[in-house]
Amino acid sequence: MLVITSDDLVLLSPFGEANAEDVYPAVRESVADIGRWLPWCHRDYAIEESRSWIAECARNWQARSAYQLAIYSATSGMLLGAVGINHLVRANRLANLGYWLRSSHAGRGLTTRAVCLAARYAFEELDLTRLEIVAVPTNTASRRVAEKAGAHLECVARNRIVMHGQAYPAAVYSLIPADLAPRGA
Ligand SMILES: CC(C)(COP(=O)(O)OP(=O)(O)OC[C@H]1O[C@@H](n2cnc3c(N)ncnc32)[C@H](O)[C@@H]1OP(=O)(O)O)[C@@H](O)C(=O)NCCC(=O)NCCS
Repeated sequence: MLVITSDDLVLLSPFGEANAEDVYPAVRESVADIGRWLPWCHRDYAIEESRSWIAECARNWQARSAYQLAIYSATSGMLLGAVGINHLVRANRLANLGYWLRSSHAGRGLTTRAVCLAARYAFEELDLTRLEIVAVPTNTASRRVAEKAGAHLECVARNRIVMHGQAYPAAVYSLIPADLAPRGA
């Protein structure tokens, strides 16, 4: 496995190198929790969708247009979820940051760790200077992750997210290099 960055609990690796056999059960066990916020995760989700997403992630990584990272447990090697750096605007050195974590491992601070690692990678290796995290205001867990990672709430933007065909306002957070805790802190 190509490890891009890690700490003592999580490893991040390009999602385009993940195995569908690892991704599929992580998504399937999480349909109730993730599907509420991310429409790609639905009750008929099939392993073929894992395969096509992995292939798309590999193409995007190659094209340097999006950097989807699989989150693995550093202790068991299990695939836990993903954190993605996408919607890049190179001219302004900014991108969107999104994430999901399998239900059985939620609530242990693992996504926050992965977000901090991915943000450091984006700032240090991809030369970005701003990441945006966009969450529906009622998505408390997602907002807590943004806050715990050090992101700043900038506004609640009108009609910022379309979910299940309907436009919703969204809380917009920004993360810049100065927000990250010093390495090893
Ligand atoms: C958002 C998500 C990635 C969080 O993963 P996680 O590994 O549980 O995150 P962490 O453990 O790092 O932090 C979660 C925080 O949210 C809190 N939280 C979780 N559910 C909550 C709820 N229903 N109400 C209030 N707080 C909640 C936890 O207590 C924790 O905060 P704390 O450390 O202050 O106690 C996961 O819930 C998920 O995959 N959700 C569905 C997909 C999604 O919404 N992605 C984001 C789209 S913007």
